[in-house]
Amino acid sequence: MKILVTGGTGYIGSHTVVELQNKGFEVVIVDSLFNSTADIADKIGMITGTKPTLEVFDLCDQEKTADFFKRHNDLRGVIHFAAHKAVGESVEKPLMYYRNNLESLINVMQGMTDNNIQNIVFSSSCTVYGQPDELPVSEKAPIKKAESPYGNTKQIAEEIISDTVSSGDLHSIALRYFNPIGAHETALIGELPIGVPNNLVPFITQTAIGLREQISVFGDDYNTPDGTAIRDYIHVVDLAKAHVIAIDRMINNKMKKDFEIFNLGTGNGYSVLEVIQSFEKVSRLKLNYKIVGRREGDIEKVWANPDFSNKELGWKAEQGLDEMIASSWKWEQELRSK
Ligand code: UD1
Repeated sequence: MKILVTGGTGYIGSHTVVELQNKGFEVVIVDSLFNSTADIADKIGMITGTKPTLEVFDLCDQEKTADFFKRHNDLRGVIHFAAHKAVGESVEKPLMYYRNNLESLINVMQGMTDNNIQNIVFSSSCTVYGQPDELPVSEKAPIKKAESPYGNTKQIAEEIISDTVSSGDLHSIALRYFNPIGAHETALIGELPIGVPNNLVPFITQTAIGLREQISVFGDDYNTPDGTAIRDYIHVVDLAKAHVIAIDRMINNKMKKDFEIFNLGTGNGYSVLEVIQSFEKVSRLKLNYKIVGRREGDIEKVWANPDFSNKELGWKAEQGLDEMIASSWKWEQELRSK
């Protein structure tokens, strides 16, 4: 059972390739390597015993993408991760984000429909909910106007998929991720942010290891118990496992609708200060942090209602905050020890 994983050398993609191979799927990765490196395929091979095939090209290249699908018309499904994902950068370079994230999706779906490949799992985001009116947020919550071009590409992508599914050519599952953190237990793969990290946990671990002097906590005047913003952090391996279940559900015709949407979160919200406390506990270090003003565009609090995913997919996030933070810390230490 051959599966294409686009963006398979990236953070969530690489962990998903491992879980797919562990379940006996054959994986072909397509990645442009704009934000990852080819040696990730070797690392995956070290974990699973099988190095996945890696083809390096940009899925925005229509000809190359069409040629790829002609050569791989025996694919049983596609998991589409490949995309740009930096919120701030998307505000600076909106056209780059719309072009990259949407052209690649369109080319992939064209290649699929031309070759009668029907199943696509799409990487979506809880960003589509904005600041939800009700918490925890379920899949039925309304989509709010996107805060950034990045967020808008996820909303538009879901619409493009929905329309294509309605035309009868494809089946799809969109997975809306909350905040993925953590790394593989082997510490061979993890998140590799280029330059100064935007996200909380890489910033914490880079500060603790000495790469950054201090971490800023963006705002302590939110309407939350300790005043700092709340998110639903989920271990990347838990997230990866949900993709295997999703692709299996499609291949084995277990879908209830031709386009299904699932939240991937734990259902637990933690504040920025709780994440820092967890880090200090598991690392036995004191973190140098200071409270500063709010970050523009941030929402106050969001966490998932994962009931629908738990029930329909038979999936549940298993790892708790301390375990997740410990694996991020192990990965950071491993990375810098070389
Ligand atoms: C962000 C994006 C989201 C995207 C996700 C990808 C925004 C508004 N949202 O989520 O669309 O899918 O990244 O990973 O950008 N924080 C600090 N100090 C830091 C960094 C973060 O206090 O140095 C706080 C933030 O204010 C936030 C929380 O930590 O309250 C989590 O931030 P982050 O990891 O960047 O994720 P999101 O902003 O939730």
